[in-house]
Amino acid sequence: MVILGAGPAGLVLGNILVDRGIDCVVLERSERAHVQTRARAGFLAANTVRVLERHGLADGLLRNGRAHHTCEFRTEDGRFRLDYSGLGLGERHTVYPQQALVADLVARFLERGGQIRFGTEALAVRGADGEWPEVEVREADGRPGRWRARYVAGCDGRHGAARRSLPPGTARHHRDLDITWLGLLADAPPSMDAVGYAVHERGFAGHMARTSDVTRYYLQCEPGTPADAWSDERIWDELDLRMGAAKYGPLHRGRILQRSVVELESDVLEPLRHGALFLAGDAAALISPSAAKGANLAVLEAELLARALTDALTIGDTEGLDGYSARCLTHIWRAQEFSHWMIGLLHGRSGTDGESLFHNSLRRARLASLRTSRSQQDWFAEHYVGV
Ligand code: APR
Repeated sequence: MVILGAGPAGLVLGNILVDRGIDCVVLERSERAHVQTRARAGFLAANTVRVLERHGLADGLLRNGRAHHTCEFRTEDGRFRLDYSGLGLGERHTVYPQQALVADLVARFLERGGQIRFGTEALAVRGADGEWPEVEVREADGRPGRWRARYVAGCDGRHGAARRSLPPGTARHHRDLDITWLGLLADAPPSMDAVGYAVHERGFAGHMARTSDVTRYYLQCEPGTPADAWSDERIWDELDLRMGAAKYGPLHRGRILQRSVVELESDVLEPLRHGALFLAGDAAALISPSAAKGANLAVLEAELLARALTDALTIGDTEGLDGYSARCLTHIWRAQEFSHWMIGLLHGRSGTDGESLFHNSLRRARLASLRTSRSQQDWFAEHYVGV
């Protein structure tokens, strides 16, 4: 079995397979230090934690992760909080930085006897419609190489080789939202005990705890803004303004450790199987980070794929593989639907034309029902923390 990509999708899949005695290798373009320090998501849904526990992959997050269950909305009509552990299904998130989870998964995979080829870039998957597909690679020493396997899992994200190797008829449902965020990692403790969503006329701002010393912030900016366009001071001033620091208390400032430009964009490939090639994680679908669904979907899909591959490779039962695409797509589309609802909730439009005014009034009404309607809050909680 060859797995492309050592992100959450590829590593959860690899860990489960190796644990079941299936020989597998993970090909990863980057170096180990890079994948273990890259700041990404951090909010693990209750189902994700259950999957990781089921497969002996949750020690680190149970030891060092922190339960999280409240979000706070700051709007032109004041602020309100929702404790979603008391709403909907009564579930909560565990906050654990994705790079820490990746480090745990790498260590566990190697302990279990799995093999990871860091610095190895997959170039193309060939012959997926046959019995033994091949992956063409550039090895760590720069030389070309080939890996053959009974199955290939494309867990190599949006720009990976799996996506580039799909047959021409593959459908790509795509939506470019024309919304850009600066994704910031600040060397500063969280400023509140909740996820903070500020809906402001100057644009969205978000606050998400990562650890007791490090906080993730998001700041909506004009599309096309380079990541380094704003000084640290301008970033903090803008965050203060949008998050209402004058009214609700100052933010803990600190050095901006990492910054990136996040263009909100969604897509879903269909189907997620092409012969012996299967897609999971970002390779299967991109989802905006507004509702923290990407990593959670990746883990869910990895477990489904691991089960199906195990049945196929150990007892010759291919029913799971046949149903893999349709099962995942049901989850993916529900998550997309909720994430687009969140995008509509969190972003206003700056124009004064009728269309923008209408959009902004709808957004305000949506926030008002979330603030006041218990059934709306239950619906929100169920979708916010579920996958
Ligand atoms: N060959 C080998 N490896 C590759 C290649 C390639 N051609 N292209 C990309 N990769 C590697 C990347 O370096 C990365 O480590 O594949 C890995 C993909 O990992 P992620 O991007 O973390 O994707 P995934 O495992 O699908 O995780 C899903 O977590 O934080 C979220 O936004 C993130 O939604 C994403 C989610």
